[in-house]
Amino acid sequence: MKALSMTTRFMPLPPLHRQFPRHFTWGVATSSFQIEGAAHADGKGESVWDRFCRQPGAIADGSNADLACDHFHRLDEDLDLIASLGVNCYRFSIAWPRVQALGHGAFNPQGLDFYERLVDGLRQRGIDAWATLNHWDLPQGLQDRGGWNDRDTVHRFVDYARHVQARLGDRLDGITTHNEPWVIATLGHEQGNFAPGIKSRKVAAQVSHHLLLSHGLAMQALRADGARSKLGIVLNLASTVPATAMPADIEAADRADARSRRWYTEPLFKGHYPESVLAELGPDAPVVQPGDLAAIAQPMDYLGINYYTRSVVSASGEDWNAKGRDLPVTDMDWEIYPQGLTDLLVQLQRDYPGLPPIYVTENGGAFKDSAVRDGRVQDDDRTAYLRSHIAALATALQQGVPVAGYMVWSLMDNFEWASGYLKRFGIVHVDYQTLQRTPKASAEWYRAFLRAWRG
Ligand code: FCB
Repeated sequence: MKALSMTTRFMPLPPLHRQFPRHFTWGVATSSFQIEGAAHADGKGESVWDRFCRQPGAIADGSNADLACDHFHRLDEDLDLIASLGVNCYRFSIAWPRVQALGHGAFNPQGLDFYERLVDGLRQRGIDAWATLNHWDLPQGLQDRGGWNDRDTVHRFVDYARHVQARLGDRLDGITTHNEPWVIATLGHEQGNFAPGIKSRKVAAQVSHHLLLSHGLAMQALRADGARSKLGIVLNLASTVPATAMPADIEAADRADARSRRWYTEPLFKGHYPESVLAELGPDAPVVQPGDLAAIAQPMDYLGINYYTRSVVSASGEDWNAKGRDLPVTDMDWEIYPQGLTDLLVQLQRDYPGLPPIYVTENGGAFKDSAVRDGRVQDDDRTAYLRSHIAALATALQQGVPVAGYMVWSLMDNFEWASGYLKRFGIVHVDYQTLQRTPKASAEWYRAFLRAWRG
């Protein structure tokens, strides 16, 4: 008996693909602005990112996304590409200004024609469709009225969400209200290095509240309209750790974690903002009306998490840039730290018992692999990145975290926001001269991994 339990105890783990259940979601992810192009097609309005790209110095290579990967005109080819990977899910986003040019007033039925073809094409290929309603490309027409800082935008978003669901809801497996509200609020409205380029802590705090409120109200409205899709939000979360065991660093890490993670997870799961952040914001704290927090804390069908790296914090400031610390990094200088994904998921489970199923809705790395040689891109560093993070996910599953899916960022190289086309995250290479797509070695690895998982 004793010998047997020893064997059981030290039994090696099964191969990685066997560590995931039968009903697991495996996908690739993209967003509208980063791949579609067709910036003016069929009555599409301008988005805040279209406008931001025109600001001198805003985008590292001076580029814009007018053409991007021209996905809009290459939809069938790209659907075949997605299907060829063997994924069972595709996460994409809907460009609000395609559906409603100004974000208020008339809807543009032609705008949803494109997404209808996309969703139907996925279904024909047996692939689940997960649509994000807001992956940052707010109509400029709403920005002109104050954007996310204006409470009316909350109601415009709810109308838009209902409109999309009325047309496509019967064919969407998942709907995400917002992608990474922290990025919109903090990078877009406090640091100003993302659209719409505003630099105000007060505005950023109000924006984050309106994003959360519009999420909650949209969830309520979609459900009242008979939602058939899984509904949730996607947060970008890092595992935040102190640089040393010094009390000042520990305190600083806790403050950073409160600002970037708990500011979003506490209202979503507990119905209040963290007191420490409210105190820190003082007069910059957002205006919160009675009933707002209850609306935000709607039960969700899932939580989406985008994980790229950990955040090491010291009393002298947060250090995302791992370069100086002689650690393995991606081309974004983000530390490669798969253990952080396990740590983050276990921490969430501990902080919020009863957590809904978790989908890692983005994970991946930028690497310098622009060259196609003999029709191949040998991106071994990306394969290693993906494999190690999928292994970290398996560890979280074994520890009881309700993980239900994983999606690679990204299907293909694309417009990486303020970095323009300089950073490549795709498992499929895009030649920006010819727009030709070439699956990289990492895509072949993912395909083989999924084939093995299917058995
Ligand atoms: C995330 C974004 C996604 C992509 C990756 C690299 O923050 O959601 O669009 O840019 O980072």
